[in-house]
Amino acid sequence: MEPEPASASPPRAPSRRARVLVAWFRHHRRPLPWRSRRDPYRIWVAEVLLQQTRVRQALPYYERFVARFPSVRALAGASRSEVLKAWEGAGYYARARRLHDAARLLVRTNGGRLPRSAGSLERLPGVGRYIARAIASLAFGEPVVALEANGLRVAARWTRETGDLGTARVRARLAAVLAAELPTPDAGPFNEAVMELGETVCLPRAPRCPDCPVAFACRAYRELADPSRVPRRAPRRSRPHVRGAVVVLTDRGRWLVQRRPAGGLLGGLWEFPGGKIEPGEDPEHAARRELLEETRARVRGLADLGSVHHAYSHFTVELRVFQGRPGARRPATSSTRRWVTPAELERLPIPGATRKIVRRLEEPGGFLDGQAGPRVGVAPRRPGSGRAPGPEPAPGARGVPTERPGPPRGRRARGPGREP
Ligand code: ADE
Repeated sequence: MEPEPASASPPRAPSRRARVLVAWFRHHRRPLPWRSRRDPYRIWVAEVLLQQTRVRQALPYYERFVARFPSVRALAGASRSEVLKAWEGAGYYARARRLHDAARLLVRTNGGRLPRSAGSLERLPGVGRYIARAIASLAFGEPVVALEANGLRVAARWTRETGDLGTARVRARLAAVLAAELPTPDAGPFNEAVMELGETVCLPRAPRCPDCPVAFACRAYRELADPSRVPRRAPRRSRPHVRGAVVVLTDRGRWLVQRRPAGGLLGGLWEFPGGKIEPGEDPEHAARRELLEETRARVRGLADLGSVHHAYSHFTVELRVFQGRPGARRPATSSTRRWVTPAELERLPIPGATRKIVRRLEEPGGFLDGQAGPRVGVAPRRPGSGRAPGPEPAPGARGVPTERPGPPRGRRARGPGREP
């Protein structure tokens, strides 16, 4: 893949709105780390993270990721597990896997450099139309419009758009409005200014119109008592709820964990064996069944440790957590199934719900299992109901707060749909 020059189109006279907006951006932009130098790689990582995550939430993940992998080459040279570990907590792990694949492709085919045009960038794994255009304009000055959710809202208000922003037709119409006023030498700052306005001033529910530098050119502001009525809001869809059962199989200070298949939901992350509770099924039965199906092992002394709740962007999940010791037939270990100490698990990439289980297993007030195993401290749902020594109740251990954004969790059909 050869680097291409940014397409050379003649400079255009920007609209007054575009000029004022870019000038405002130069003064008011937040000092975000990917803005300090126009490093295409850093802009790329930031855009991938910002696709599903708000700026403030994305910042610590961005800093950690680029500190760990400061260049395309560094990223390409890492193992999958290292990349997923560095991404841990940011959710939507398919983003990290594709970023990694794309970095490897760039090292193989283009000397580790990003191509300069949106058209070539879009051919990389995980790089869609928006990200390609954002990188091309922000890093290389290509005069293309990059429109994400915030920008769409801004443009919809400027034009008093009445259509559904989810449709390709309306998106194309709004992109054309911006393209007509795109300042050619400043396409990057203009695109970023539109996003910045959407994130800091032209807010979804309570737009701060008195602070808006381009209110003079906004139809929603000039013509409506309540500009926040544009765009039309789609009714919120309620999220489905999924119930799962998990077994913390514990032996001599180690827990059994498994790696999820590479390509699917939360692919490549490690978790405790378990799966979906079938309709009408007893959670303990589901735990035993899942363990048997997945590892062909049975469990002794199963104790009910209570529930962990996790909210994903598309559904919520309640996991019933059980703990026990392996029966006579021990589960076979492999490259995707191993016994780990808590410290070893700390070094593996794990999903958010598994992180919550581990945190609660290690909470003060837990206990060492009968064989000096890792501590457990999740409040038992039915104290004494299991055959293993019952864990100490941990005060306030139920009702775990939810984390957002987070990737759907679940082996096979545990969650509805694939990881976005
Ligand atoms: N959202 C998406 N990309 C962004 C950027 N470059 N700056 C601020 N917010 C963004």
